Amino acid sequence: MKRIEVTMNFSIFALFLVSLLFGYSTARQQGETCVSNRNCDSGLHCETCVANGNVRPRCTRIQPLNPFSKVKGLAFNRYTWLTTHNSFARLGARSANGGLVLTTTNQQDSITDQLNNGVRGLMLDMYDFNNDVWLCHSFGGNCYNYTAFTPATNVLKEVRVFLEANPSEIITIIIEDYVRSPNGLTRAFNASGLMKFWFPVSRMPKNGQDWPTVVDMVQKNQRLVVFTSKASKESSERIAYQWRYMVENQYGDGGMRAGSCPNRSESPAMNVTTRSLTLMNYFPDTPILTQACRHNSAPLISMINTCYEAAGKRWPNFIAVDYYKRSDGGGAPEAVDMANGHLVCGCASIASCKENMTFGACKLGEESLSPSGSFNNQTSYGQFDSRPIRFQWLFGVFLTVVMSL
Ligand SMILES: *[C@@H]1O[C@H](CO)[C@@H](O)[C@H](O)[C@H]1NC(C)=O
Ligand SMILES: *[C@@H]1O[C@H](CO)[C@@H](O)[C@H](O)[C@H]1NC(C)=O
Ligand SMILES: *[C@@H]1O[C@H](CO)[C@@H](O)[C@H](O)[C@H]1NC(C)=O
Ligand SMILES: *[C@@H]1O[C@H](CO)[C@@H](O)[C@H](O)[C@H]1NC(C)=O
Ligand SMILES: *[C@@H]1O[C@H](CO)[C@@H](O)[C@H](O)[C@H]1NC(C)=O
Ligand SMILES: *[C@@H]1O[C@H](CO)[C@@H](O)[C@H](O)[C@H]1NC(C)=O
Repeated sequence: MKRIEVTMNFSIFALFLVSLLFGYSTARQQGETCVSNRNCDSGLHCETCVANGNVRPRCTRIQPLNPFSKVKGLAFNRYTWLTTHNSFARLGARSANGGLVLTTTNQQDSITDQLNNGVRGLMLDMYDFNNDVWLCHSFGGNCYNYTAFTPATNVLKEVRVFLEANPSEIITIIIEDYVRSPNGLTRAFNASGLMKFWFPVSRMPKNGQDWPTVVDMVQKNQRLVVFTSKASKESSERIAYQWRYMVENQYGDGGMRAGSCPNRSESPAMNVTTRSLTLMNYFPDTPILTQACRHNSAPLISMINTCYEAAGKRWPNFIAVDYYKRSDGGGAPEAVDMANGHLVCGCASIASCKENMTFGACKLGEESLSPSGSFNNQTSYGQFDSRPIRFQWLFGVFLTVVMSL
């Protein structure tokens, strides 16, 4: 008994010392140094951004605020969505056909993890392959064993599971469409059980009007918005032709020249307001993991301002990036919060928006408002409260200390 007590006391003391020495007993906020993700508050992870000279690992954001947690009832085109470019091209992925994928990758985590982190726009390249529709990162309009990631249905099923579990969330899928087999896309969506969420083309505004409200879309359970890059499929399969509803800037290196925001060739000019939605791409031709943190930081915010002007003073509805989790601080989530703030309530961040407030009537001292910290329990994305993780970590240290006695 006594012995145990002494051991316990000593353990607690050791634990206290460890916490004191390393200071990891409390979760860290954005910008604070860390050793692992577990040190950081929810919505953050621990990483360096060597490309920006930030060699010490710090807590950086990986989740935007959920705009619905602030203001619910607006038109769909009054919100901004974090969008992942080639969402399926995951670092280290093996092809579902068993071979190696010999192509560049664009993201670090699964579709499910992306959705849980608040990603709501998915850019998917779809091809005919193996008598099915596959997600490939390929060229020349054909998919090969070494550019094939996985059958589209695998990823679409993850989307279905998420939509079923989150009945007030809306997801947009933007397809780079190389599928030639008749009704190939329809079959893939149907086989994934997604048709019940389909937002019909007939309800998409054709002349720059507002979209239905998100409340209406949720009530009708029309929570999946899909666009294809093939114009013919709008009449053949009732899948919306993207550029009939959306303007989009140039992707790749051509979209990363500071101060200019030209349209993508398939898109109408950025300032064409008969398209209600705007999409902003910001990623290089060749995705480079180590550079992504630099791109996803200040230059991204700067380009949002450039594209806002180019688009006839319209904030982007979709902000598409590579390696969305990489940044030197607030990253793409902060950029999305900024665009949402402007769109939703006329403030510099969605964090300042409130239900029924007058547009532009922001909280005093908004500028000093930290984009971090405050968001962890104001969002439905906070499915992984950091608290239990923090205790797990502490418990781990505790066990280690006890066992080493
Ligand atoms: C592609 O992979 C399949 C196995 O999934 C294999 O049967 C086929 O021979 C491969 N094709 C080539 C060209 O390597
Ligand atoms: C859609 O999927 C269901 C089963 O999930 C199947 O019975 C039906 O034939 C499919 N329809 C089409 C057009 O593929
Ligand atoms: C969009 O950009 C392309 C260049 O990529 C250009 O050829 C085309 O004319 C532009 N479209 C409009 C409407 O400006
Ligand atoms: C729209 O943008 C084009 C360049 O893409 C420019 O020539 C034109 O003047 C702009 N129109 C308006 C109304 O600003
Ligand atoms: C906002 O306004 C609507 C209708 O005017 C009202 O029903 C709702 O309760 C208001 N919400 C808040 C948070 O004040
Ligand atoms: C955040 O959490 C605290 C306690 O965990 C609670 O008191 C507070 O009301 C929460 N804030 C929001 C906006 O949910």
